[in-house]
Amino acid sequence: MTMVSNSENANVNQAKKLKELMDIKNSGSNNNKENGFAKKTTHFIAVTSGKGGVGKSTISANLAYVFSKYGYKVGIFDADIGLANLDVLFNVRVKRNIVHVLRGQSELKDILVQISPNLILIPGDSGSDIFEFTDSKAFEKLVQESTVLDDLDIMVIDTGAGIGEKTQMFLNIADDILVVTIPDPAAITDAYATIKMTSKKRDEIGMVLNQVTSEKEALAIFGKIDKVARVNIGGNLHLEYFGKIADDPIVSSSIKRRTLFAKESPYAMATQDLEKIARQLAKKLEQNILTGAELDASGLSGLFHRLIQHFR
Ligand SMILES: Nc1ncnc2c1ncn2[C@@H]1O[C@H](COP(=O)(O)OP(=O)(O)O)[C@@H](O)[C@H]1O
Ligand SMILES: [Mg+2]
Repeated sequence: MTMVSNSENANVNQAKKLKELMDIKNSGSNNNKENGFAKKTTHFIAVTSGKGGVGKSTISANLAYVFSKYGYKVGIFDADIGLANLDVLFNVRVKRNIVHVLRGQSELKDILVQISPNLILIPGDSGSDIFEFTDSKAFEKLVQESTVLDDLDIMVIDTGAGIGEKTQMFLNIADDILVVTIPDPAAITDAYATIKMTSKKRDEIGMVLNQVTSEKEALAIFGKIDKVARVNIGGNLHLEYFGKIADDPIVSSSIKRRTLFAKESPYAMATQDLEKIARQLAKKLEQNILTGAELDASGLSGLFHRLIQHFR
């Protein structure tokens, strides 16, 4: 119990610190308008799951690629604390990551990896997590001065398992949440636990059914989860089915070859499935832009800005 309240205290302190930093940033020169044009806002999509090994990173990486192919400027942030591995999926060598920036050992621009013209990887650390550094000078600098990523249209956040406290922070501030599960009963149970936890703060939660044999199977599993959620969680929760991804040998073989299946095999079933999900997300994104429903937030500093709003 003490552990819980300690970490809650730590969160409150972190939030205060973040808020102070953002107030400084906002009171400075008006960064929001450059050359008379309103600054872009970034649409944040968090990919999560209950259980590990269900395809979060695979889906995040390929989804980010598909968005970039559609012409969006996309960032992909490796936020699976302890299990950061997107560099492996993208087949790039990463020497430094976000934690080096937060420690003041690197500049943000020097750790970013350009995967393709419209796609930038923000590498994560497989040891420390970013919330350990909210008191550092380098953190302050990052939040105040980082405009490097401000023109991103979309940031895909590959998170850890959704019941974790740190992952919940990312889910709370995302525009869209995708909970990934596979048909395995343990994965379904854990996905449900993630949904239940997340529903305390969020009404709209999306689901992707991975490694299924058919749409029928995916819809049957989704239907069951949705029914249990309606009965046991209720409230205003709206679970949205974003689609399925076929269990496709092309996916595992592409991972072994360190390539992206969505790029290498445009006609594969898994790619068609993923494109359908991407189009559905893009549709929502365009609607948001039209209605201006989003909080003004862009790039990495925008991400931190949202974390602060969430603590208020
Ligand atoms: N649609 C799929 N078809 C076949 N294999 C898949 C599919 N999705 C994921 N996999 C397999 O599952 C493994 C774990 O995926 P990964 O994205 O690393 O999961 P997570 O990030 O959730 O831990 C991959 O290495 C891949 O072999
Ligand atoms: Mg992963």
